Amino acid sequence: MNMSVITDTIAPHGGTLINRIVTEEQKAEFLAQADSLPKVQLDKRATSDLVMIAIGGFSPISGFMGEADYQGVVDDMRMADGTVWSVPVTLSVSEEVAAPLKEGSLIRLDNPEGKFIGVLELTEKYTYNKTHEAVNVYRTDEDKHPGVKVVYEQGAVNLAGPVWLLEREAHLLFPTYQIDPAASRAIFRDKGWRTVVGFQTRNPIHRAHEYIIKCALEIVDGLFLHPLVGATKSDDIPADVRMRCYEIMMENYFPQDRVILAINPSAMRYAGPREAIFHALIRKNYGCTHFIVGRDHAGVGDYYGTYDAQEIFSQFKPEELGITPLKFEHAFYCTRTEQMATAKTSPATKEERIHLSGTKVRAMLREGKTPPPQFSRPKVAEELAKAMSGQG
Ligand code: ADX
Repeated sequence: MNMSVITDTIAPHGGTLINRIVTEEQKAEFLAQADSLPKVQLDKRATSDLVMIAIGGFSPISGFMGEADYQGVVDDMRMADGTVWSVPVTLSVSEEVAAPLKEGSLIRLDNPEGKFIGVLELTEKYTYNKTHEAVNVYRTDEDKHPGVKVVYEQGAVNLAGPVWLLEREAHLLFPTYQIDPAASRAIFRDKGWRTVVGFQTRNPIHRAHEYIIKCALEIVDGLFLHPLVGATKSDDIPADVRMRCYEIMMENYFPQDRVILAINPSAMRYAGPREAIFHALIRKNYGCTHFIVGRDHAGVGDYYGTYDAQEIFSQFKPEELGITPLKFEHAFYCTRTEQMATAKTSPATKEERIHLSGTKVRAMLREGKTPPPQFSRPKVAEELAKAMSGQG
């Protein structure tokens, strides 16, 4: 057994950190079968899900979900054995692709570029109800919702079973920030951090983010700044631009000895409340004891109430989740007190609150305008304006 399980301050979800990366010998054996195995091509999301499973980010999941786990997750946010899990992790293919594949066989998994990257031991094939998944997981059946759209466009058959990843390749753009769960746990241990707060983000870092991060930093030992760099919807700011903004924050505005910047390779689902639970469990696997949930976490459009993603945590016993949410109200710049605040800390009237929506900021950037210092640190704003002017 991995010693880290004993000495870490927080156990991975389900108790054991999953590792599904093959040894060199196993890799050679799989590669020798490359041409004889039936092949399935993964899309971007399934590719990042495979990686997340393999590195333990989705512990205790060790493969694409079978029907009992899938139904439990969709209906009750629990896998068949009762473990809390809020978002399905499935490999969906068309009926034509699924038909010749035999249960019990090994399947070669290729990434979207056609490279052999993993193996699935096919234990089950099953059809599923897409509308039911959409309504339960995303709280809407509208195909305008980017997460629902993915479900509607994916194949009708789920292929399930344990998976293996042939190799943990360095990230092409951000290799130094590729810190997998075993490594982040080791870093936290070395630093002697007993409490670590995880921060999920998919947007360029702004002052409301900084404010809630720093409020959290006041009460824990360290922060795991963990931006998502997997697939996002097309109008979100690209990951490379966002990463430069996080680096600027690290260099100028964060205490470097108390913040670790690392990438989260998973794909965004935009499932709001359900995704907040999913995001928290992933950070628990990376070794975080706490997780920040602010306004409309992982939301999109008007599909979720501002604090739905916070309220969902009360549906579980704290020990079932094993990671503590730190909930923050909508933060804004208060012109009366000349600082960042929330309604909990400032008497500001509506007119005294400066808040810009992500959509508004993206529109400003496309027009070559720089967001104001009350919204964004000037160095970050400059970087964003430079990167985004003239785009889209
Ligand atoms: S998310 O899809 O990853 O949630 P984003 O990167 O904007 O999007 O948010 C990261 C985290 O900061 C989430 O927990 C979100 O709820 C929180 N957050 C974003 N903006 C604010 C704000 N103005 N006030 C409070 N929390 C916020």
